[in-house]
Parts: sequence; structure tokens; C-alpha cells
Amino acid sequence: MIPTSTNISVELKKQLPVAADAVVVLINKETQAGKVSAGGAPKIVIEAVDRLIASGDVKGKSNELTMQSLAAAKGEPARVIVIGTGNPAKFSAECLREAGATLARHVRKQKLARVAIVLPQLPDELPGVPDSTETAAASPRAVQALTEGLYLGAFEYAEYRGKVSKESGSGSARPVKTRYTLVHDDTRHVAKDALQMGIAVGEGQAFARTIAHRPSNDINPVSLARVAQQMARQVGLKSRILDEKEMARLGMGGITAVGAGSRTPPRMIVLEYAPRSAAKGASRKRRSTETLLLVGKAVTFDTGGISIKPAQGMQKMIFDKCGGMAVLGAMLAIARIKPTIRVVGILSSAENHVSGTAYRPGDILRMYNGVTVEVTNTDAEGRLVLADALAWGCETYKPAGVVELSTLTGGVIVALGRGMAGVMTPDDALMDQVQSAADRAGEAIWRLPLYESMKDLLKSEWADIVNSGGREAHPLQGGLFLSHFVPEGTPWLHMDIAGPADVEKPNALYTMGATGYGVRTLVQWVTARSG
Ligand code: BES
Ligand code: MN
Ligand code: ZN
Repeated sequence: MIPTSTNISVELKKQLPVAADAVVVLINKETQAGKVSAGGAPKIVIEAVDRLIASGDVKGKSNELTMQSLAAAKGEPARVIVIGTGNPAKFSAECLREAGATLARHVRKQKLARVAIVLPQLPDELPGVPDSTETAAASPRAVQALTEGLYLGAFEYAEYRGKVSKESGSGSARPVKTRYTLVHDDTRHVAKDALQMGIAVGEGQAFARTIAHRPSNDINPVSLARVAQQMARQVGLKSRILDEKEMARLGMGGITAVGAGSRTPPRMIVLEYAPRSAAKGASRKRRSTETLLLVGKAVTFDTGGISIKPAQGMQKMIFDKCGGMAVLGAMLAIARIKPTIRVVGILSSAENHVSGTAYRPGDILRMYNGVTVEVTNTDAEGRLVLADALAWGCETYKPAGVVELSTLTGGVIVALGRGMAGVMTPDDALMDQVQSAADRAGEAIWRLPLYESMKDLLKSEWADIVNSGGREAHPLQGGLFLSHFVPEGTPWLHMDIAGPADVEKPNALYTMGATGYGVRTLVQWVTARSG
């Protein structure tokens, strides 16, 4: 079993299931009584929704949820749930993701087991991104976004609730499994594919969030490697783990230095998805010979090392593995979606600790590709861990494109806030690809400059470069540093996800804590490249 902290299933059907605990109808701010778009909903449901709208109690505002019991006969739904999607002029896939999450949160608290969602008639082209032109069928984009939303709202991290929480009844002592049925009278294969995509992405993201939440006395580089390998076995990914001895032998001076202060040594965790070689039958899909490389920072705890961090808020550094978690979740989804392109995911994992064996400021490290680095701050450890992963990964797998994610700098939060990732790349084409993947995935990104001339910030007196060049432009220094470790000509893109990797208070999509940010964008990018 892959741990996802969710307990739902989602299916797509032409007919409403009998005796649902609730039937869900989506309306917007302009929906009028008598004009509800919910083909397939029984009369008793439509009438109830009409009454709620007519009374003015239900307005269709974004994420407004109203539940009402119905005087149902046998076989009829017991309740109706009306969810608002706001102003129809501003409607997008994101509204459905939020509607799904709002619904699933409510259903989880109410412990409903059987829920039917009547899909409204939607244009296939939701704002922003064109889609299939089959207007009669359930919109694939709508199906995927709603499904993703259901998984987000169903997420509840309860692995460490103990005796006291259980006795007081807080937290779901016995979580109810909810079966969601999306109802639409035309469920062509495009919609079925979209559903599978939504489920794969939903579970991938929930898996990423679950492991991200596990604290550092549970998840360290060694145990993380086990978690990844177990997942890989279950879904048919190849895996390879480089331990500290092998990494030292290979000359990976960055990750081995960062990991040197910890009881649990560093690991380079490699997961590989390869499309099936010879497809059987006539309709063989053409396989791409390209490889895409995903690299994630998986620092399982960041104390700052000898350049120690202040105590205030340090516990949040369990989330310093979230770049790696995005790669982990994406690889799970990719294994299930089975694109026609080879994908390699690397989780570069170390624990940045303070101890007698820890690396020090002033140390000079020789990295895998021969670049020497003077350590000016042991708290700028992420880039050291990533440098070896990028250099070794590019040499070993010769990728056609690399996307790397990391909670790299606090500075990116100062610059862009918590809502988006800062991205840096020298490659405009790759930027366009990742931008449209992120748009479609509903994950905000903003490009930051990667100016060759700014590499001066990293000048070292004795080594090639320093790992931190003072207070100026921290996020840019991070990207510039990493640029030394990707071979000339390999398109690569760096995403600093320190902001969106976790949320400090719950919002329309997420509970407090890890968000699994990046999973959706990565999967979208890979599927688009797979064609
Ligand atoms: N993991 C941190 C970055 C971070 C900070 C992530 C806050 C999430 C929230 C990273 O390893 C780090 O410590 N960065 C330093 C870099 C500096 C020493 C150049 C930073 O941002 O202060
Ligand atoms: Mn750090
Ligand atoms: Zn860090």
C-alpha cells in the first residue's frame, strides 16, 4: 500500500448511482432557479437546488457549500450539496479544483460514503488552455481538475495521532472510504483518460504530501530511500540507490560533505520509468528515445549545519525535502500514466546537521564535475547536494531536458511570497513548456533572471566558486551556482519552491503543512513532452 493520507475512489458514469448519500450540483453566481445545468440529476435534487437559489440562501459564490437533507424515497439520494464556482466570466479549471477540494473536505468531516457529482455542461476550452474539441463529451480538463481537487480536499495527515487524539475523538478514528461518481451522459474515452490522469496526479501529490509530513526522526536519507524503493517496486519503476561510499568513490564532494554531520548518511535515490519496449498489437504507440530528468532537493532536515539556523521556526525544516517529494510523487503518477518517454527522477538526499563530523565554513569541496567550491555558509547546503545530482544525472542519463526543484532560499519567499515558485533557466523553449504546464496544473511560477555576468557574485579567492556570496540576490545566486553543474547545451530549469512547498494556514486547496507543490506541473510537463 502506498500511503496517501486519503481514502477515496473516483469513477465516471453515465448514470447516477442509486441511494447516494449525497448528490452534488455545481452552480455559479449567475445560475437562476429553473436553469440549473445538471442533466442526469433526479427531479427531487433539481427542485431542492431551485428552491435554495430562489430563496437567496445560495448565491453561487466561490467555494460556497450548502448541504440539505431530502425527503427521499427508497433508492433516491439522501442529500443534496450545492457548490458555488463564483463569477462565470472568471471560470477556469482552478475553480473546479477548488470546488472538488471544498466538497471533499466537507464529505470527509460528514463521513459520507457514496457521493455523486453531476457534471455541468462545460465548454471544452476552459480559459487559458485549449483542449479537445469534443464539445458534447464531458470536458477532459474539467474531469481532471475536479478529480485532483477531490484528492486535495480528502487529504488528512494523521499518521502520528496518538492515544490522546484518539480518545478525544479529534481526527478520524475510523476514516470512512468515500466513493465519488462523476455523472455525465457522454463519457468518451477522452474523459476516461482525463479521469485516470486526475487519479494518478491526485494520488501522486497526496503521496508526496504524506512523506513530506513525516518528521525527521522518521524520514532520513536512508529511510527515504526505502520508501522510494518500496513505491518503485509496487508500480514497476526501476530504482538505484547510491550510498555514501559509492558517492565518495564517484567524487561527489558536495552531497557527501553536507551529509557528513549526520548519523544517517546521504543517499542519491534514482527512480527510472522506461516506456514498454515492444507494444503488442497493431496500434503501437511510437516511443520517444528521449530522456527527461527530474531532480529534487531532499534535505530531510536542515539545521543550517555549523552556520546554524535560529531556533525560531526551525521545526519547519522537515519540509526541506519537498523538492524531492515533488519528484517522488510525480514518478508515482508517471508510472501509472505510462507516457511514451523515458523519465528519470533523482532525489538528492542528505541531512544537514551539526556535529563533530559536520563540514565547516572554509572547507573547499571538489564536486562530481571537478568544480571546486569554497564553503562560506554551511546553511547554503541545498545547492551542494543538487550540484552532484545534476552533474552526475546529466552525464549518466544524457537528458533532453532537466527540471530541478528545491526549497533553496528564504530569499525567494521575500521576493515572491508563498504563492509561487521562482524559476530560472537559460532556455526560453523549456521556459515556455514549463510555463504552460504550470498554468494548466494551476501552480504559479515566475521567471527570475539568470545573467551570466552575475556569476561574479560567487567569486572565490581560492576555489572556483563560493557556495554563498553574501546578502545580495540570494535566489539568483542559487540558480547561478547550479548553472555550473549542468553541461553546456543541456536545457535545464531550476524551480525554487521554498514559498509554495507548504502553507502556514489552510486555504481552499490545502490543509496546513506540505502541499506537494510541483507534482502537477512535472506530470503535466512530462505528458506534454511525451505527446
Ligand atoms: N532550506 C533553506 C531555505 C529555506 C528557508 C526554505 C526558509 C524554506 C524556508 C536553505 O537551505 C537555506 O538555508 N538557504 C539560505 C541560503 C543562504 C545561506 C545563502 C537562506 O535562504 O537563507
Ligand atoms: Mn540551509
Ligand atoms: Zn535547506
